[in-house]
Amino acid sequence: MNQFISVKDVSNIDSLVQKALDYKANPFKDKTLGTNKRIGCLFLNPSMRTRLSTQIAAQNLGMEAIVFNVGQEGWALEFGEDAIMNGNTVEHVKEAAPIMGKYFDILAIRTFPSLKSREEDYSELYINQFIKYAGIPVVSMESATLHPLQSFADLITIKEVFKEARKPKVVLTWAPHVKPLPQCVANSFAQWMNAWGGADFVVTHPEGYELDGQFTKGATITHNQDEALKDADFIYVKNWSSYQDYGKILSNDQSWMLTNEKLKQTNNAKVMHCLPVRRNLELGGDVLDSANSIVTHEAGNRVWAAQAVLSEILSKM
Ligand code: CP
Repeated sequence: MNQFISVKDVSNIDSLVQKALDYKANPFKDKTLGTNKRIGCLFLNPSMRTRLSTQIAAQNLGMEAIVFNVGQEGWALEFGEDAIMNGNTVEHVKEAAPIMGKYFDILAIRTFPSLKSREEDYSELYINQFIKYAGIPVVSMESATLHPLQSFADLITIKEVFKEARKPKVVLTWAPHVKPLPQCVANSFAQWMNAWGGADFVVTHPEGYELDGQFTKGATITHNQDEALKDADFIYVKNWSSYQDYGKILSNDQSWMLTNEKLKQTNNAKVMHCLPVRRNLELGGDVLDSANSIVTHEAGNRVWAAQAVLSEILSKM
């Protein structure tokens, strides 16, 4: 592996999951793999889990991790190819990225979408500019359209928790929210579920919240949440803004919020969410406080997901 931008960078999903679980069982087994190597973790947007889990993962492999909150502490970056920089941007990615490439061995980046231009966001302009100009392996810590470290941790969690000799039914359900959120987590989860192929995968959302078909192709898609939840083994709860009417909130229908009452129609489903979650808006507090919630377990697995990915990249250096 020489970059980690999406599931397409993974040659064998099941063996990468096993690698992550091996690290979970023995976190320091490769504690010298990253000796004298440095990862730069660039955040253009806020984070808790991704930042901490990636730092811990790097340290478990003997790497030094340097975090740079570009969005708060750095010069405002310009990404436009022929931009005349007479506005608020101070430094072009064409200078910044190769400098990062000289300071670090791996570059990890978080860069959210603007939710203003679908064309620009779905071109992944920002992360692609870093890939083009840094000259070192790039790891996505959430880009404009995908969050692969999250989805990988989600898959690890499903495979770890589900012990039956059949395919689990996994449901991705839209949830209400007051802010327009990116489609990244939902896109990425759908992409990983479909690429893995080990689940009966269902996506449910109100009309107008259809995700980009390149990620959901292969899933069953329904606007009937109750029908989707029936006999579910896992429910992945997430809000996203509209892809069609790009970046807009089309519904705030609270009847879509998952509650313990709704869980009764499932197969005692385990409930997942990438976090942070707004209680009693996006997901019922009764569910989060119940034994069905595995959200903190899932967040714990972010370390092993990041460690397996960094290990794969380090082994090819
Ligand atoms: N799930 C996730 O990426 O969390 P953070 O935004 O806190 O990193």
